[in-house]
Amino acid sequence: MTGNPLDLRPWLAQVGELGELRDVRGADWNLELGAISELNVKKDVPPALLFDEIKGYPKGWRVLTCSTSSPARLSSILRLPIQKTHKGLVEALRGKPAQWQAEAPKYDAIAVKSGPVFENIQKEVDLLAFPSPLWHEMDGGRYIGTGCSVVTRDFDSDWVNVGTYRVQMLDRDHVALDMVPGKHGRIQYEKHKAAGKRFPVAIVLGGDPLGYLISGIEVPFGMCEWNYIGAILKQPVRGGERRADRAAVPRRVRDRHRGLHRAERRAHRGPVRRVPRLLPRQGRNRAVRDHQEGLLPE
Ligand SMILES: Cc1cc2nc3c(=O)[nH]c(=O)nc-3n(C[C@H](O)[C@H](O)[C@H](O)COP(=O)(O)O)c2cc1C
Repeated sequence: MTGNPLDLRPWLAQVGELGELRDVRGADWNLELGAISELNVKKDVPPALLFDEIKGYPKGWRVLTCSTSSPARLSSILRLPIQKTHKGLVEALRGKPAQWQAEAPKYDAIAVKSGPVFENIQKEVDLLAFPSPLWHEMDGGRYIGTGCSVVTRDFDSDWVNVGTYRVQMLDRDHVALDMVPGKHGRIQYEKHKAAGKRFPVAIVLGGDPLGYLISGIEVPFGMCEWNYIGAILKQPVRGGERRADRAAVPRRVRDRHRGLHRAERRAHRGPVRRVPRLLPRQGRNRAVRDHQEGLLPE
């Protein structure tokens, strides 16, 4: 096996070959990027949009939107034969979720000691270095995480959960997580809070969309989404474990890859409110890790 199957670069190359990737240069993170994405998903077959040269940011600090908005891209993300129609996708998916769920226990994530994610660590955390969009005019702030994966561990068991929860950038080194009551990450958070313990969180941005797609659906209580993803990939997810974020996170999935981060828009989603500070002091970012090399050619 070569490379990490959750590396975003090969997926972007594949989507480019399918003719479903469009470069957008010079957009403003302040409402324009969100508006362009919103208009894009109204098309019959919207391409994925790769924003670069975002206003106020250097070339190469990119944002990817609309990655899941076509049958061809969804089938490629789910490692199915490419389907150009919704009907074809539905047929290709028949029986798959039950199969993936049944096979998930066979694919425990594997902890590795090193990987590209550890090559570039921001010691002085500066989230403002990343072009987080203000998506809608009524939003309470800029969201660095929408199509992201939030990795947490249970308080009294080894259960690692991976959920797609929005992440608002509050300032240079603080974020807020919007995990609504009942979500698995929120349940784990409440247990830590009740015990007066810190709640370590790792947030994955910029990986293969398979990560956020599966962390954005409900898998059975107590099952780790990495297992489910492993069943789709037919190989275990490989992750690094270090310090506070000892939750198993795949090597390249955790990369911010030198400024590329991915944020997803869904056509029907309305304005995002300002989220409560679920992580008052614990929300302070301890480190931001990048891949040393650009994920994409610059
Ligand atoms: C793009 C996207 C954004 C989402 N944002 C949130 C969010 O901000 N808060 C939340 O609680 N759920 C959000 N969800 C829904 C959860 O990801 C979903 O309910 C998932 O099952 C949660 O994981 P869990 O079952 O492990 O708690 C979002 C889903 C998607 C696809």
